[in-house]
Amino acid sequence: MDFLKRAEELYDWLVTVRRDIHSHPELSFEERRTSALVASFLEEWGYVVRPIGGTGVHGVLKRVAGSPVAAIRADMDALPIEEESGVPFASVYPGKMHACGHDIHTTCALGAARMLSEAAAQGLLPGGVVLLFQPAEELNKGAETLLLDGALASPKVDILFALHNHPSYPAGSIAVREGAQMAAVDTLKIAVQGRGSHGAIPHESNDPFPAVASLIMNLQTIVSRNMDPQEPAVLSFGSIHGGAANNVIPEHIALTGTIRSFSPEARDLLHERVREIAQGTAEAFRCPIHVDIRRDLPAVLNDPLSYRCCVQAAKDIVGAERVVSPVPSMGGEDFALFQQIVPGCMFWLGVRNETIDARYPWHSPRFTADESALPVGAAVLARSAVLAMEALSSQA
Ligand code: NI
Repeated sequence: MDFLKRAEELYDWLVTVRRDIHSHPELSFEERRTSALVASFLEEWGYVVRPIGGTGVHGVLKRVAGSPVAAIRADMDALPIEEESGVPFASVYPGKMHACGHDIHTTCALGAARMLSEAAAQGLLPGGVVLLFQPAEELNKGAETLLLDGALASPKVDILFALHNHPSYPAGSIAVREGAQMAAVDTLKIAVQGRGSHGAIPHESNDPFPAVASLIMNLQTIVSRNMDPQEPAVLSFGSIHGGAANNVIPEHIALTGTIRSFSPEARDLLHERVREIAQGTAEAFRCPIHVDIRRDLPAVLNDPLSYRCCVQAAKDIVGAERVVSPVPSMGGEDFALFQQIVPGCMFWLGVRNETIDARYPWHSPRFTADESALPVGAAVLARSAVLAMEALSSQA
């Protein structure tokens, strides 16, 4: 089946669906309207549909027992942002916006689901298809709730594909690489315990401020001095809270930050050095420091087989000259949690087009996308799934 040709025929429908979802953005775990829309489409095309993980949707296309199962995953949630994109189909809900383009992901996955059901009706599918529409990607929670609800279990999924739009790549291009595509994400919380006093008698205190100042600078040496320069890593602070008056040395100061890395070794080293430096700084300033590091997400790692299927599908759909191997992003994606369980590949779908002002980054109130990418995204997802079924069938 020529998925690009069919997706181009579906262009007006894809745009209508995307604009409908775009103008009705729903926040994480509130995706009721979106999931009802998704479920009604899937049912219409012959999928067996059940709700999953709260506001998610699980759809299964009938298959021959024993044949491989390929899954396509899309996220559906929006962000608490007031839209300023100026598009005529902007959000009708104040303070909510599809500013990360998950409306595009949902639409492309629906397009793929529709075409795969058509292929199945023509006897052209060498396996089964599972569609996973997840809530709450923005909270790093949706994938987890789907997994707890058996997303990959019944039927057992063998291989998995997903896309994320990317406003840095021209519309109609695909960016995908084998191995790390997006970073592991950890949340850092630090509490520095001092001993308070009057600001005029600092010797009666253990002032947490110099401890915190020193700690922040010391921690910045981890990436520059301890990490292999070829190994990407980030340690950023996002909040610091302490004190209430100009002449009072406070009892404690709290900091939060984020740690990003790719390899498990780099991740462990970052954590180890944060703890060691905090301990040393605590002793130097006589201020106990408590470090809490929460492992939020592993890195998005595209395995060799699913990558091969995806990059071949991309070349088939848009031509080799429009498929690039990107520099990985330090952003995270909870698709990584699925990849911990089954091999999977996430690719980036270029949506940039400066002539229509589609050039703002994810989470910008001006974020917008070139809709000519919709058929491309749908076709690459569908073709990746078919190539994967074929590869797995020939292996069996
Ligand atoms: Ni996103």
